[in-house]
Amino acid sequence: MKHVTNSFERIPTEVYKNSLEAITSIAKVIVDLIRERQSNGKNVVLGLATGSTPVPLYKELIRYHSEEDLSFHNVITFNLDEYYGLSKEHPESYHRFMQDQLFDHVDIPDDQIHIPNGMSQKQTVFQDCKDYEDAIVEAGGIDIQILGIGRTGHIGFNEPGSTINSRTRRVTLDSLTIKDAARDFLGEMNVPKYAITMGIGTIMDARKVFLMAWGQSKAEVVKKAVEEELSDTIPASFLQQHDNVTFILDNAAASELTYLKFPWLAGFPEWTPELVCKAVSNLSLLTGKPILKLIDKDYLENGLSDLVTELGPSYQLNIRIFNEIQHTITGWPGGKPNVDDSHRPERAEPALKRVLVLSPEPLEDVSAMGGTLSRLVSQGHDVSVIYMTSGNLAVPDIEARWTLNLLGQLKVEPVNSFIEDANAFLIEKCEFDEDIQALRELKALIRRNEALASLEICGIGKGKVKFLHLPFYEKGRYRRFNITQEDLSLLAPEIKKIQPHQIFVTGYKSEPSSVEGKAFSVFEKAIESLLDESWMKDCWVWLYRGGDNEWNISEIDMAVPCSPDELSRKNHAVYQHRSQRSQTPNIEQNHLEAWGQAMVRNRKTAKLYDELGLAEYESIECFARWQPGQAK
Ligand code: GLP
Repeated sequence: MKHVTNSFERIPTEVYKNSLEAITSIAKVIVDLIRERQSNGKNVVLGLATGSTPVPLYKELIRYHSEEDLSFHNVITFNLDEYYGLSKEHPESYHRFMQDQLFDHVDIPDDQIHIPNGMSQKQTVFQDCKDYEDAIVEAGGIDIQILGIGRTGHIGFNEPGSTINSRTRRVTLDSLTIKDAARDFLGEMNVPKYAITMGIGTIMDARKVFLMAWGQSKAEVVKKAVEEELSDTIPASFLQQHDNVTFILDNAAASELTYLKFPWLAGFPEWTPELVCKAVSNLSLLTGKPILKLIDKDYLENGLSDLVTELGPSYQLNIRIFNEIQHTITGWPGGKPNVDDSHRPERAEPALKRVLVLSPEPLEDVSAMGGTLSRLVSQGHDVSVIYMTSGNLAVPDIEARWTLNLLGQLKVEPVNSFIEDANAFLIEKCEFDEDIQALRELKALIRRNEALASLEICGIGKGKVKFLHLPFYEKGRYRRFNITQEDLSLLAPEIKKIQPHQIFVTGYKSEPSSVEGKAFSVFEKAIESLLDESWMKDCWVWLYRGGDNEWNISEIDMAVPCSPDELSRKNHAVYQHRSQRSQTPNIEQNHLEAWGQAMVRNRKTAKLYDELGLAEYESIECFARWQPGQAK
């Protein structure tokens, strides 16, 4: 853990290896206060948050209750917010969330629990919000306020534009917030448009505030809130004016903070090879000069005088880093046979490798590494793909209806009861109902067929593809997945069966509660259990990244260029995932579709290499090498 206050940060931050380590310190502060107040016969008032971020904290509080005899009888709680229009019973209501994640497992008396009423009538909502504020004051004010942060920078549901004096009120949700919640509600159209939230002013009144953030996807907004000028465009930045606030972050969420991203600007860094590469490539992009054209003056004028003094002169340093980056580029992702491989990212031997690609859901594989997959196959490697989850939760009903209609018209006889059940359920289904098993299975089949069609384009046949349906996904909902031994016992034997020389996997540093984050943690544990296997010594793990999130240049260990033809084949493969296309086509928005996103990202990486002065390719897919247990 690091306590940091430097000239870049306007809010104190604490950075931990992972969310589990991070929450122990907050849990301790809360527990100590509860105990201290109990010994004086007094109450503690907690402000609580929802979302996936506080889940590990609630688990730890439950542990204190069940294992360390801590009673919560003197705790009064006020939740930040609730969706407007959702009843307490709705599976996505914050009432239900809090019940499941905390209240059902500790002994807080019911009348000491407060959550805004999502079903408050339009005529009374103003008064209800005022009463909520009064109840907080009456309870003595909030002692400790727990917060997460949304990607718009919101706290509670205080979206950009909220003012520092705002109090509990009804608000309209930002379109990005709605997008982020779409998976929980099985589609954007089901996400409520309004919410009731405590105001920024209400939050600022708390005596102590902890804001938690985990995973790469929060890094950008955390940096803005912590380092940029206070502004209502990032509501969390208002916390700069709070005198007792700490941001509790894991490494990934902190990764955009200046002292971590550009450590040479924040003091005297230890010049590791990765940091040197980062500094030089960054200098090249900053000055708009290819690496080989950088001169001493560029280093001196941009805070890198100690680097060029220690490792210079510049032309030597430039050549070294240029070569290092050059050596990451290969058209042979499985290793080039019969050549000296000392400067290549992969080993030459064995010439033909067993390759395993793990994808958390169908689509992530082809969208991040479709070009590499095709190359591995065409270069003769034995490529297998395992989809860790079925991905059924991400299939919109309209796709299921389409399939059922088709089957209905074919009049498949005898009519399968499975189809009948799914059909009957869909006719009756209300907006927020959870799918019955038959419909989930049908949706899983839709994704399975899309994945098979997609892989066929990459040259991978049905016999090499496995759909694992890990139970954490089948039994869970978005943001509420629980890994158990059952998950591990399904994955480890599959890896063992293949005994791969190469594994490609994603989810490293992803938000820990996301499907990719969970899938990676199942993988990590499975690999740990296989470490003693003799073939493991010859198994290299390559990390790929999903979405539009590429590795930084200095993190890349292998860069695989794709020609224009290869890129269009990849697009074609991604395009097969029909259920994942947007439901309302818009020709202007192609870049938001999975194939458009992949293309933009791969071309951007190629452009970056070009700007650094390396060869100019059409597109590039990137990977980082990972050793089990190693933080990258
Ligand atoms: C919602 C909640 C916020 C929460 C945010 C982030 O918008 N109203 O309180 O901080 O989601 O959610 P997560 O923690 O799942 O990333």
